[in-house]
Amino acid sequence: MNNKLLLTHINVEGIRGFDVYRNHGGYTSVDKALKMTPEEILEEVKASGLRGRGGAGFPTGMKWSFLAKPEGVPRYLVVNADESEPGTFKDRFLMEYIPHKLIEGIIISSYCLGTNTSYIYIRGEYSWIPDILEQAIQEAKDNGFLGKNIKNTGYDLEIYVQRGAGAYVCGEETALIESLEGKRGNPRLKPPFPAVKGLYQCPTVVNNVETISSVPSIIEISGAEYAKIGVGRSTGTKLISACGNINKPGVYEIDFNLSVEEFIYSEEYCGGIPNGKKLKACIPGGSSVPIVPAKLLLKTADGETRYMNYESLSLGGFESGTMLGSGGFIVLDEDQCVVRHTMTLARFYNHESCGQCTPCREGTGWLYRILKKIEEGKGTYEDIDLLWDVQSKIEGKTICPLGDAAAWPVAAAIRHFRDEFEWHINNPECLTKNYGIANYA
Ligand code: NAI
Ligand code: SF4
Repeated sequence: MNNKLLLTHINVEGIRGFDVYRNHGGYTSVDKALKMTPEEILEEVKASGLRGRGGAGFPTGMKWSFLAKPEGVPRYLVVNADESEPGTFKDRFLMEYIPHKLIEGIIISSYCLGTNTSYIYIRGEYSWIPDILEQAIQEAKDNGFLGKNIKNTGYDLEIYVQRGAGAYVCGEETALIESLEGKRGNPRLKPPFPAVKGLYQCPTVVNNVETISSVPSIIEISGAEYAKIGVGRSTGTKLISACGNINKPGVYEIDFNLSVEEFIYSEEYCGGIPNGKKLKACIPGGSSVPIVPAKLLLKTADGETRYMNYESLSLGGFESGTMLGSGGFIVLDEDQCVVRHTMTLARFYNHESCGQCTPCREGTGWLYRILKKIEEGKGTYEDIDLLWDVQSKIEGKTICPLGDAAAWPVAAAIRHFRDEFEWHINNPECLTKNYGIANYA
């Protein structure tokens, strides 16, 4: 069965507006939650097993329970809508087409966390979405779901939308907080985690758009029922934004027991690969996660099937696995060049590095330059070893995960597609002469 929790009413005309959303059961979870205690809501979220949908998959209930509550100090909820991971566009879809789902989730989450001011920090490139969100906020306010004394409970909440200026690193939660405070978006060292010292040095929960939008369903059906949907520690449903060489790019809500093969080839989802081409590889969780060749995705070496969930995709660790990450599913057909694809990503990470730590600031530049040299047919076999060496000196040695995100795709590309690197060393022309989607970043 294909469960729908987030996109249930996505095709209903006018669902973006309050009245239609309300007529289709919208805000009934807020009605219900406001009759519960914050502790009861927290227990439901913990029981649901919901994991952060931004990429890290950290248990949401656990994160919320870490929130410090010192006397007289305000707490904040910040929704991370700085969706910038190449290949990832599912939060944009949610905010654009069903914005009240997010507003509803923010109200319940804020009430649970005891925050009276919450923020949505949205990437600058989503220039048309803030107006949609602000209208939804105003409609919720006009109907008594925001502002002072919400539904006569004595609870006050304001939501503000803050536009970012287009820096990828501001999706990292502490850089986002710095930016929200009006400073340059440089990541902070953790610990302390935002749950202890976040916005204005106050306890703060930072959660992704999809994570917060999942909260109304948990309240509606209960945490226990939510946990039953899914497989193991991958509970509920997940939005996947699919792109690259597929017939039907778009945003899909999937069950975690869906196989990768079915997701790519079934008409219900990606609809297969255009022109009958063969699958070369996938990057299932946004550009930062390791690329995986088709042979390990469609049928693993030991005959296992890979499923679209946190555990199955990471099977075998980084040797043969990858990550579900943010759910930005990128498909490469047999005509795509992995070296060029990796070079394009390296250029992106180099451009987006904030420059605070040497391994990332210098290393990402080295990765890009070596890859460019190889891609142009001017590389040597030693350059492949140098590339490996440089990426290994970045991973785990930086303040924020952007360094890892730059290193992992390079390591995985060499691990699985060394033959293409060697081809490029001997040939000035690209292996396939088809630059296609490898230029997307
Ligand atoms: P992380 O694993 O460091 O942290 C996850 C969350 O758990 C954070 O909110 C952190 O504050 C919290 N946390 C962890 N340990 C904690 C503790 N002991 N006490 C309190 N809180 C704790 O991962 P991070 O840096 O938040 O995210 C990295 C992920 O983001 C990557 O996996 C990547 O896939 C994804 N990403 C997503 C993008 C997007 O556009 N959606 C863009 C770039 C990266
Ligand atoms: Fe900045 Fe890169 Fe260091 Fe992150 S890893 S803090 S982006 S230099």
